[in-house]
Amino acid sequence: MAIDYQSRIPNNVDLSTDRALQRALEHWQPAFIDWWKDLGPTTYQGHDVYLRTATSVDAKGWATFGHVKMPDYRWGIFLADKQQDRTIGFGDHKGKPAWQQVPGEYRSALRRLIVTQGDTEPASVEQQRLLALTAPSLYDMRNLFQVNVEEGRHLWAMVYLLHAYFGRDGREEAEEMLHRHSGDVDNPRILGTFNEPIDDWLSFYMFTYFTDRDGKYQLKSLAESGFDPLARTCSFMLTEEAHHMFVGETGIARVIRRTLEEMQKLGTDDPETLRKSGVIDLPLIQRYINFWYSSALDLFGAEISSNAATYWANGLKGRPDEGTYEDHDCIDTFEDVDTPGGLEQVATRNAMNLITRNAYVRDCAIGLTRWNRTIAKAGFQVELTLPSERFNRSVGVWAGMAFDTSGKPSDPDQVRAALPSEFDRAYVKSLMVGVTEPGKCANWTCPPDRGINNMPFEFEYVRAA
Ligand SMILES: [Fe+2]
Ligand SMILES: [Fe+2]
Repeated sequence: MAIDYQSRIPNNVDLSTDRALQRALEHWQPAFIDWWKDLGPTTYQGHDVYLRTATSVDAKGWATFGHVKMPDYRWGIFLADKQQDRTIGFGDHKGKPAWQQVPGEYRSALRRLIVTQGDTEPASVEQQRLLALTAPSLYDMRNLFQVNVEEGRHLWAMVYLLHAYFGRDGREEAEEMLHRHSGDVDNPRILGTFNEPIDDWLSFYMFTYFTDRDGKYQLKSLAESGFDPLARTCSFMLTEEAHHMFVGETGIARVIRRTLEEMQKLGTDDPETLRKSGVIDLPLIQRYINFWYSSALDLFGAEISSNAATYWANGLKGRPDEGTYEDHDCIDTFEDVDTPGGLEQVATRNAMNLITRNAYVRDCAIGLTRWNRTIAKAGFQVELTLPSERFNRSVGVWAGMAFDTSGKPSDPDQVRAALPSEFDRAYVKSLMVGVTEPGKCANWTCPPDRGINNMPFEFEYVRAA
């Protein structure tokens, strides 16, 4: 269905036919805007930002680009088109019609899934609120804001589901989404990592590459849900998410390119020498990868999980790209799970977190292959790698144990040495200076191959109104 941009809340769910729901959401809207102004991006709320806005929900629906003040961005409710006669694709309800309403017995489980997903969206906006001040270019600043407004829209997506399908407690959960704040001691965001500020751009690129990609795989699982409105909501969110991962992958690639340039010029890979030139040495980038990747793996939950089994059996959360698997019952089938006690045969349903995570790991590797190709082309024999899944884990079978990045037993000091040190972080922070002149770029990175929507890098992506 086409998106209605005439109403106060843009939507393609025929909101005007449900007055009570429309009123409830119109009541939530000003609270959201207040939250955005208070805890969204600092300083630039009054600037014109070159943003894209969805015009339709298919892959081509991104045609609209234009300068907008962020508080005027048209946040709304967009669901992927309904598939006729969609049936549940896996688990104990396989083959039954997908649910258009919340099944009573799964009400609290579904609400928990939606609230947990929803809470991460505003959390990341809050984590990144000061980053604009140190943006390495206007192009980067614009990308940050694009990611931020879309995470805000993802909050809208989840709040819509809560309002439309969960009655009064859904409305209360929607209020809570704006009351919890990232890093708030009394009322923090639900997941631990979403309470740490992201205050340098290398971390921002790592976040959009690794953490947002976890989000992508959570959304892919939920896009398979037997609860059809959730599936359709998440399908559309995935089209927005792709750009976030692009920001991460190209962001890290540009840092690497700039470093290689200096390595060639100086004929050295010595970190100290390179730091004198103000670029980020590859071993430091590796330590950031080690940190962000291992903490993203934790977000998938324990490798062996009865909760995950229940979600899957009940048809609430599938495997990413469920359609690509042959067996959608997974009864009497097993999965080899690597544990400290050796390989364990685990019932497939209990290994769903790991199966989802394995798909994520394969996806993560793609960017590394590209970065390594760039490094090799520049004539250096350094390879960036993903650390072992045993390394630095806080969740699951390897939690709290010391392994080195190749997965061999190690000691806590060695684990620490493979993670960013205080010194590394301070160095990265020392490089962070905002560059706001169009066409200019901070010294520690380099301009992208192309701009946004075929605009040149020199374009004024963010400008004073
Ligand atoms: Fe999101
Ligand atoms: Fe995202």
